[in-house]
Amino acid sequence: MKHSLNNPSGASAPLEPVSVRAAADILLQGGVAAFPTETVYGLGAIAHDEKAVMRVFAIKGRPPSHPVIVHLAQVEGLERFAAAVPDAAWRLARRFWPGPLTLVLRRRPDVSSVITGGQDTVALRIPRHPIARALIEACGEGLVGPSANRFGRVSPTTPHHVFHEFGTTVPVVDGGPCEVGIESTIIDLSGAQPRLLRPGLLDARDIEEVLGCELAASAAGAPRVPGSLPAHYAPRTPVRLYPAGLLAAEAQRRLTEGERVAVLATGRVRVPGGCASYRLPVEREGFARELYAALRQLDAAGCDVILAEMTPEDAEWSGIYDRLQRAASVAR
Ligand code: TXA
Ligand code: MG
Repeated sequence: MKHSLNNPSGASAPLEPVSVRAAADILLQGGVAAFPTETVYGLGAIAHDEKAVMRVFAIKGRPPSHPVIVHLAQVEGLERFAAAVPDAAWRLARRFWPGPLTLVLRRRPDVSSVITGGQDTVALRIPRHPIARALIEACGEGLVGPSANRFGRVSPTTPHHVFHEFGTTVPVVDGGPCEVGIESTIIDLSGAQPRLLRPGLLDARDIEEVLGCELAASAAGAPRVPGSLPAHYAPRTPVRLYPAGLLAAEAQRRLTEGERVAVLATGRVRVPGGCASYRLPVEREGFARELYAALRQLDAAGCDVILAEMTPEDAEWSGIYDRLQRAASVAR
């Protein structure tokens, strides 16, 4: 399948996706390739190939202190990276894997500190996307897979997004649009009490039910999660959040002042004429699935501001709420 899209340099080059086999060969030869997961696209390299992992950091422009997730195809792979797999990890694995959950466990001493950012823990995830699984199986190894975007930018949920980030430098396996649309939920099981490091689309109450205890909120400080930096997941255009009931009036006010306004909202909001806009589904799965594509599309519209509809703050929406807050919290 060929898609026509200009690459970031402006040169017109089509996206030419590679097959799973071709991507596996590239990875096994020490290269880097992007692959779809059910959450977002990942920038893959063989986890045991330190040089290849370092290339992933270089391509993303990610500081070396920020650890990456290792993606596995089978739970048996856990013990190749984790020093100890607590009972709670097996229980969560049985319930949520393969799926959009990442577990932080104490690492084995032989796991490269390039992966772990020098910490004594390692993040592990078994994705459920068939292409991700086929690629990991074809490599016979765990794959690191940070989101396939430049550091601090919106994660890609289509192969075109990856192409827009990196042009022809990074081969991409085309899995179409991602089903979940925001990054995995991260639970840290390396300490005395399970902690929620990054909310995702899984409901934290379901996780607590499996654990049989409450999740502690992420504490400031170690372990470091770049997703928890305020400037993460941000488009270039400033994003401002408004409740549905106030958004249309704010858009109108800004239009009157001569601003170019983009509106990111569900059908609850009546968008004034003269705004660029993207309509998001009202239910949370659809909202999450389209959110990053919508942010990218409106970012490209060349407006002064993106006015986005505030989502509920409750447990079901916490992952989406978190990403919107971060997109909006960049100081400009
Ligand atoms: O859904 C996802 O998790 C996607 C797909 C591609 O799997 N990947 C992803 O990777 O979001 P990345 O690198 O963009 O975000 C991984 C997060 C970062 O916030 C990182 O700090 C955290 O996982 N992380 C990785 N290793 C960790 C560790 N040992 N302790 C605490 N946090 C860790
Ligand atoms: Mg990321």
